[in-house]
Amino acid sequence: MAEGNQTVIFQFLLLGLPIPTEHQQLYYALFLLMYLTTVLGNLIIIILIRLDSHLHTPMYLFLSNLSFSDLCFSSVTMPKLLQNMQSQDSSITYAGCLTQMYFFLLFGDLESFLLVAMAYDRYVAICFPLHYMSIMSPSLCVSLVLLSWVLTTFHAMLHTLLMARLSFCEDNVIPHFFCDMSALLKLSCSDTHVNELVIFVTGGLILVIPFVLILVSYAQIVSSILKVPSARGIRKAFSTCGSHLSVVSLFYGTIIGLYLCPSADNSTVKETVMAMMYTVVTPMLNPFIYSLRNRDMKGALARVICKKKVFFCL
Ligand SMILES: *[C@@H]1O[C@H](CO)[C@@H](O)[C@H](O)[C@H]1NC(C)=O
Repeated sequence: MAEGNQTVIFQFLLLGLPIPTEHQQLYYALFLLMYLTTVLGNLIIIILIRLDSHLHTPMYLFLSNLSFSDLCFSSVTMPKLLQNMQSQDSSITYAGCLTQMYFFLLFGDLESFLLVAMAYDRYVAICFPLHYMSIMSPSLCVSLVLLSWVLTTFHAMLHTLLMARLSFCEDNVIPHFFCDMSALLKLSCSDTHVNELVIFVTGGLILVIPFVLILVSYAQIVSSILKVPSARGIRKAFSTCGSHLSVVSLFYGTIIGLYLCPSADNSTVKETVMAMMYTVVTPMLNPFIYSLRNRDMKGALARVICKKKVFFCL
């Protein structure tokens, strides 16, 4: 297969996390626990929303989509990381690496778009409460979700195809725990200018536009509350937007921390820690943020459990 003096790389080595060997087992247990919590928490949310008809509102259908996306997002990286921590062989095939990168981008972007859809939903709910049901019709919700899927599929595909053009030479060690796009670009021995330009442009669009849209809808919400300030209105706004705002801050907070804060010389460790934050911690916390303070979710849980054990509850 290799022609001329160019070697073809069939597999990469994932260097994993910068953890001292004596602590490997401790961290393994910790990450396993976090991953299982993520899977379980998000599955419970999806099942609960599916089963309880009180939760068949746009907000909860979006939340269910967000949980699905969280579940997939952490499943793209975590199982492989856990497997590599246990086995001595930390290789990943070239195709596996590109596949991981594709799904990482797909579900990461999907989350960003779903957060916009949810912000729009809150904006309509607070600023046009009387027209909420007619504006947020089932067809609009389905269209918003479909549009998110189409845009992120296209975006992830674009980067994956651009990456597939590049050739890799001797160096095949990725100093990361998954096939991160920028880590792969650094390894490549081809010209990566086009890739960098596309990352810069689309990355800006895909992160900045959703962020601005979310800010705009919250600005509208705040100004509509300030127009008729009442304790009840403020409480209502906080109770319906609080969870969403926490998730948004968590999601964009880590991204802004990662890309905008000046990084010191030892940036690999910082990058890995931040990547850990958004691949593991954010997807794990989302279900808790939405369910702990939420009366609807607690009520739904009680109803679903009671329906199954009807005799105990009566
Ligand atoms: C995602 O949202 C759409 C539209 O609201 C809904 O029909 C669908 O059931 C949701 N999917 C999941 C997995 O919750």
